[in-house]
Amino acid sequence: MIRIVKAGVQHLPQIREIYNHAIINSTAPFDEEPKSMADRIEWFQMHQDPKFPLVVAVEEGVVMGWGTLSQFQMRSSYRFTGEISIYVKGGSRGKGIGTKILSELIELGKEQNYHAMMSLIAAQNVKSLGLHQKFGFKEVGHYKEVAYKFGQWHDMFVMQKQL
Ligand SMILES: CC(C)(COP(=O)(O)OP(=O)(O)OC[C@H]1O[C@@H](n2cnc3c(N)ncnc32)[C@H](O)[C@@H]1OP(=O)(O)O)[C@@H](O)C(=O)NCCC(=O)NCCS
Repeated sequence: MIRIVKAGVQHLPQIREIYNHAIINSTAPFDEEPKSMADRIEWFQMHQDPKFPLVVAVEEGVVMGWGTLSQFQMRSSYRFTGEISIYVKGGSRGKGIGTKILSELIELGKEQNYHAMMSLIAAQNVKSLGLHQKFGFKEVGHYKEVAYKFGQWHDMFVMQKQL
């Protein structure tokens, strides 16, 4: 059975592996260089604040996916607006894991008194757009050719849900 739980430090190597696989093989993240463990430890520590939760979908100790809430922009007036990241392990997609993670992040966002939730999604990422639309996120912005990865320009959709 898949459970969504707060991530522990023991999950970090698998979280990193899922993210680095996405960096190397896709335009889902616009990072280009794999993340070191030192970088991920710093990131993990930032997500120990309940305002910025890091959750994992776990099945028999295996991390099938992870999700975070971060502050949308660091300037203080943005403190009630969260930004979502979700990554499901290759081979486990399309089975409802992303749905479980996003549902939990929305609940945690409400608990933390967020007013709005945002996701920045590469325009060609139809799966992620579909996932967010399913939860009532609406397109509020379309940035044109703002990212350059794998030798070409990419557009980005800004998706938003009010809580
Ligand atoms: C995007 C991602 C998180 C979705 O997670 P998932 O576990 O595959 O998604 P689910 O199985 O829960 O599907 C959720 C919804 O996504 C949408 N979806 C999934 N696959 C889709 C596809 N091929 N085309 C269109 N919509 C799709 C559907 O709305 C689906 O809901 P439904 O099954 O009730 O119709 C996952 O595919 C992933 O990790 N992709 C790579 C990383 C990534 O893109 N992260 C997001 C960065 S913004």
